[in-house]
Amino acid sequence: MKTTTGYSGTQIALHWLVAVLILVAWLTGEGAEEALEAVEEGGTAGFVPHVAMGLAILALVVVRIMVRMSRGAPAAPGAAGSLAVRAAEWGHGLIYLLMIAVPLGGISVWFLGMDLEGAHKLAANLLMLLVLGHALMALYHQYVLKDGLLRRMMKAG
Ligand code: HEM
Repeated sequence: MKTTTGYSGTQIALHWLVAVLILVAWLTGEGAEEALEAVEEGGTAGFVPHVAMGLAILALVVVRIMVRMSRGAPAAPGAAGSLAVRAAEWGHGLIYLLMIAVPLGGISVWFLGMDLEGAHKLAANLLMLLVLGHALMALYHQYVLKDGLLRRMMKAG
């Protein structure tokens, strides 16, 4: 993958848009559970915000990965191959994987009627934990290490 000097405006916009949508999707999960129960009891669900969020996240993450593959991304700060850099790379990779797997799990439950609710929930909670750690690391870089990392996700470069 190409190494760039910074993220593009598109990459930055997608990062923050997906971050907000993931938070809303997580907060609206319970509503989807109730809607699914209503459907199973023979009722209709109507518009379910959680399902709309999940579909939007999946589409935007696919675009995000395509942009990353064609444009590249800046190298993680720190010595190449160091534990911190490898942890950042694996962490980002795992977040990408779950940003695809969690909506696909939701689609399997909602549209295909598969019995995967437990796995979908577990993976979603794992994603939220990783994101929490990710945000804390970003703040640690910005305010403790003072290396200006947050600026890389604020201003195109
Ligand atoms: C749902 C929430 C979030 C998700 C899913 C997410 C996901 C990601 C991913 C996958 C990357 C790697 C980008 C790449 O190189 O392709 C990244 C980078 C980054 N994220 Fe997040 N993020 C979230 C929330 C946040 C928050 C709340 C902050 C700040 C407090 C933050 C700060 C950053 C920064 C500074 C980078 C750039 C790191 C670097 O330059 O290597 N993110 N994020």
